This record gives sequence, structure tokens and C-alpha cells, in this order.
Amino acid sequence: MNLIGQPVDRIDGLLKVTGEARYAAEFPEARLAHAVLVTSTIARGTIASIDASRAQALPGVLLVMTYQNAPRLPNGGKPALAPPAGRRLSLLQDNEVHYSNEPVAVVVADTLEHATDAARQLRITYQSSAATVDFTQAKPNAHAPDRPQGRQTDTQRGSFDDGMRSGAVRVDATYTTPIEHHNPMEPHATMARWDGPQLTLYDATQGVSSAAQAIAKTFGMSPADVRVISPFVGGGFGCKGSSWSHVSLCAMAARQTGRPVRLALERPQMFGPVGARPHTEQRFILAARPDGTLTAMRHDSLSNTSVIEDWTETCCMVTRMLYAVPNQVTTHRIVPLNLGTPTFMRAPGETTGSFALESAMDELAVALHMDPLALRLKNYAEADPQENKPWSGKSLRECYQIGAQKFGWSRRSAAPRSMCDGNALIGLGMATATYPANRSEAAAIARILPDGTAMVASGTQDLGTGTYTVMTQVAADALGFAPEHIHFALGDSSLPRAPVSGGSQSAASVSPAVRDAANQARSQLITLALADEASPVYGIALEDITVIDGWVTSRSQPGKRDPAAAIIARSGGKPIEATSTVKPGDEKQKYSFHSFGAVFVEVHVDAELGTIRVPRVVAAYDVGRVLNLKTARSQLMGGIVWGIGAALQEETLLDTRYGRFTNANLAEYHVPVNADIGALDITFIDRPDPYINSLGVRGIGEIGITGVPAAIANAVYHATGVRVRDLPVTLDKVMGALQV
Ligand code: MOS
Repeated sequence: MNLIGQPVDRIDGLLKVTGEARYAAEFPEARLAHAVLVTSTIARGTIASIDASRAQALPGVLLVMTYQNAPRLPNGGKPALAPPAGRRLSLLQDNEVHYSNEPVAVVVADTLEHATDAARQLRITYQSSAATVDFTQAKPNAHAPDRPQGRQTDTQRGSFDDGMRSGAVRVDATYTTPIEHHNPMEPHATMARWDGPQLTLYDATQGVSSAAQAIAKTFGMSPADVRVISPFVGGGFGCKGSSWSHVSLCAMAARQTGRPVRLALERPQMFGPVGARPHTEQRFILAARPDGTLTAMRHDSLSNTSVIEDWTETCCMVTRMLYAVPNQVTTHRIVPLNLGTPTFMRAPGETTGSFALESAMDELAVALHMDPLALRLKNYAEADPQENKPWSGKSLRECYQIGAQKFGWSRRSAAPRSMCDGNALIGLGMATATYPANRSEAAAIARILPDGTAMVASGTQDLGTGTYTVMTQVAADALGFAPEHIHFALGDSSLPRAPVSGGSQSAASVSPAVRDAANQARSQLITLALADEASPVYGIALEDITVIDGWVTSRSQPGKRDPAAAIIARSGGKPIEATSTVKPGDEKQKYSFHSFGAVFVEVHVDAELGTIRVPRVVAAYDVGRVLNLKTARSQLMGGIVWGIGAALQEETLLDTRYGRFTNANLAEYHVPVNADIGALDITFIDRPDPYINSLGVRGIGEIGITGVPAAIANAVYHATGVRVRDLPVTLDKVMGALQV
């Protein structure tokens, strides 16, 4: 595998920097009409009246669609599929309002300006009722979700009480994390066009096939009549993993107006109707013997959902598998609020859960007077302690060792506030990163064309992650073609089906299908050549044959070779084609599949102002085989940067009087900028996972964010002696203690 792992530049890079890459809201269409979404201004109640007369009279207005005139959908527009494929949507089927910023109308006009103006002129009055938006007040309403994301709601192993009795050193602490919103650079957008009974959607989505399926079910259509196209996505992070209300509303508006319609959400509309990371409150109890051996662990996670759908931030997943603790209880409960339904947000559950777990472990290390890294090594899980299965591969010990060595962990002095540099209190902290290695069935097609190039395709997505690039590498490597002679296509539900690009599963799912389809096409090409008397390689033994740069070539006599174009031309000029569907076998029954990493951070806290800087992060990861060192590093960097944002900046602020978010824009919803990011030093163990797939590839989209918030909070504790258990760690939370 020569090309696998190479730091190949993004093959779509030039298209992106020149603006040629076309995103959902950029597709041109004749007679295109423009839709503007109107959303509720109350958090709970009913629509009392709608006066659309002024809006409708404005120039260019084609449609004002509300619950009064929207087409009735089968089953009241209720989900025909289980979430997340089928979410509880707001499709103007009734006059109920469940949260602020919920879609209540769609205005369509000939131009975006006309539609925007008309939307502002729409007069809606509400019958408001008391909304439940305060998490703390609503906690008594918590209930147990039913198998959140297919996982167990609660777990128990050993005897927690026995474990508590045998562990004299204890931690009992509660950690909270705020509501966060994804805010990809590209907001959600859809363009819908009907051709008779057939619907084509250009959609910003993480799953073209799952989107087509969800829309077909919502409208009661045949899936064959829905096509979703999404060649470029400007970031997803989970919010584009479900088809939210605006997608169906856009299709409804297109049908009503008889024109293609584009609906792009405005940035403030990203805060409500398209998911969020929910608020979490997590209580952790740890007990250990004086030597650091964990004897008991309890993790009770509370998070908010909406009043229309149960959605759970699965915070306990990491807790169940990371350490070899024999006695453990974990629980998930959810609190319904009048807010939009939360959803997957980069490492959903692992980001928030690892903050709590890895903060609690740091607190335990302090209580034990033990080095935090030594505590983790003491409780290293040699097998999955919950599933009682061996790991498919786990090089976490190496991650700890390499990370610690590159970081200079041994220079850390144990006591808080013991390392200073002028006015800066220096803190060194660490945490473990982990994320499951997911994989689903995927299909791909490989076609060697008469011109000697190859078209390889799969109905997967490139969210900006590098799918085009790595799949081109995989295809080129398997075919024996130069990467520049491969055209890799994706982002179209009419292509062989691939799973949603969520759960970090695309590389692990799609690459074996691409590899297998390409291998089959290559074999066909070789077979044709060897059987053809006119070929320079005629009669050569198969074992002596390879394909180099598109030429079927004798290994022992490299002068004997035959290019693909000539082979195809002599055999009738028809493309060579192979499709492959690959699915996981029973390996998940035998092994536990996870990726791992170790994160070390240095923080500088200003001794007077409390401002926190992160000059460097050193991290080492075991993510299986790396397909492309450059795009993989970018993925991990992005994850770590987001981890820094989650640790220090990100939070969506809720006005509990009105149930509205007060910082629903990119000026006040703070994310890191370049000036916030110091040196990021990333090491890959780069060891193929022997059991996950034919390439040994695990996903890398989400592990990067995990562990980082805890590592930073732990470093802030080390710098200041202040333990912040409530994200984000902002200066006001450390300042008071500094002045003592
Ligand atoms: Mo990822 S949060 O599963 O898109």
C-alpha cells in the first residue's frame, strides 16, 4: 500500500479556494424562487392569528405558507422513522409552538430580498403559556430515556457499595456543561426541485441516502423518487446528520409554488430548529485504595431534551469502558425543556462525559497525592471492562508514554500554583481521549474507462474532512492507477449507498468498499489482458502481474506491459465495472472497537486578571491506520481546537424569561480564532486495527475534541489551585481565588 498514509494534498483544495466548489445554496436553477423561514417568538403556546395580507400583497411574493394552508402530510408529518433519521419536525401541520425559534411559516418570493421583506411583514400573534426552560427548576421532571442511541440507559457491574467500602479515598463532585451550538461555516441550506413526482434536493447534509429516506417517508413517497445531492458540505459536526424541518418545508414550498425553491437558514436560525449539544449535569463518585486502585465509580448524567422528542447526551459511554474499575453504576436521565431538540454534536456524550470523568480522575489524583498519569496507568483497562471483550487494538499506553515524553510531563511539579513565569501561573494538565470505532455497511463502484482513467464512486459525503482525497488514495492504490487518473464521486443518493457521515464512521465504512470494488475492477482488467493474444502480457502467469500507473505489467520483465486504455480498446471499448457492498461481520461480538489518545496541555493563567491562554497542546493518538497524514492531522487539530473552545469559550446563553438564546450569532457565540491557538503537536501511533476492516482504518472525526476540556480544566487547577467544574472555564471562575 504505497499511497495509503501519504500526506496527499486535498484534491478538492483548488476548487474550494477558487470558489468553484458548489455548496447547497449555490446551485443555479432556472425560475429559482427564494424562501425565508419565519420562526416563533414564544417558547410555548399556540398561534392565535396570522395576518398575511400585507406580506402577500408585496411585489414578487409567491407563497406565504403557514399551518393554515400548508399541505397536509401523511401521519401529520410525524416521524415515520425513529430518530435521528426521522426527527420530530415542525412542518406547519398545527398551530402548536414547542420552543422559541420553531418554524411557523415559510415565505417564498422571486428574490431573496422580496422574501425577506415579506417575512418581516407577516403578523403572527400567539396565545402564550408558561414554558419550561430552566434546567435546574425542571430537574424533578427528569425521566429515563429508552435505549439512547441504541445503548443501555443504565449499567451496573460488580457491587458499587462494596467498592465504596473498600476505597477509602473518595471524590464526589458534580460537573456541568452548557448548551452549545454547532455553527458550521456553512449554515443549513436546501434547494428543492420537483420534476413531476420526482423530487431533487440539493442539501447541506451528512447523509444523502438517509436524507432521501427520511424525506420519502415524511411525504409518503417512494425512496426511488427522491434524490439528494450534496457534493460539498461546509462542516456538519452532527447538526447536518438529521434532516430537519427546513428541508421538508423547502420541498413543500417548491411543490406549492411549482418552482424550484432555495431555503438557506440565517445564522440566528441555527440556534433552535437544527439541534444543539444539551446542557449536562453529571455527578461523579470515585473511590480508590491509597495505592490508586479504583474500587468504585458512579456516574449519573442529566441532560436536557425537548418536549417533542427524547434525545440523550450519552455522557456515560466513556465511563463504562475506560478504566478497569470492578464496581460501577452509570445512569442517564433527561429533562424535557421548551427548547429545540438537541442532537449529535462532535463526540456527543464523549466530549461532555470525558470532561466529567477525566476531571474526577484528576481530583482523585490530588486526593491520593498521586501523579494523574500514574493514576490512569494504575487503572489501565487491558480489556473492555463493561463488555468483557478484548480490544480490537489499544495502544493507549504508548500514547501516554509518547505524549508525556514529548510534552515534558516529568518536569511538572505536583503542587498547584508551584510553577510560574513572571505574571503567568503555569499549569500542566492531562486527560485521556477516546471514541468508539464505528463502522456500517457501505457500497462503492469502480469503473475503468476507455480513456484509461477510472471513475470510482460511493454515496458518501465529504464534510470538509477529506473524504474525496482519502478515497481517491484508496482507489488509486487498489487499482494501481495514479491518483490524478481517478475521479472519485460522492454526495449523491443515486450512487451506491453509504452510511451517514456521523459517528466518525465514513473512512472505516467506505474505504473497504472502495478498495474491494477497485480490486475487482483491477482483476477484470488483468484477466482481459492476460487472455488477449495481442497483449504484451499475454500468457504471463498471474502471480507475475501487477498494475503500475494504469499499465498491466510483468513484475519480472517490467518491459512487458499494457496500458488500460489499449486493453479496453481491443476488447470492445466498453468500460470495466465492479461494484461492491461490504458490511461488518461478527467482529463486534468478539472485540471492543475504540480509538484512544492522550492529551497534555500547558495553560498560562494571568495571576491578576485570570485570563487563560493555552500555549501548547501535545497529543498522541491510536486511531488505527492513518489514510492520509495531512488530512488526518487536520482532523485532529480541528478537534483539539474545538476542545479548547469547549473548555474556555463556548456556551449558548439562555434567557429563561423567554426561552430565547441571547447570543445566537457568531459575534457573541465565542469560538477560538487563530490568536487563541498555540502549538498543537500531534503524533499518530499509526498501527492498523487488525479486526475492523480490510485496511485497518478507524475514524478520526471526533476523538480529537475528547479529553481536551478536562486536560485544560486540570491544567487550570494545577496553575491556580481553583477547580472549575462548570464549563466553560472563564476568568470570572478563577479570578476570585487568585486575589486571596
Ligand atoms: Mo458526528 S456528532 O456523529 O456528526
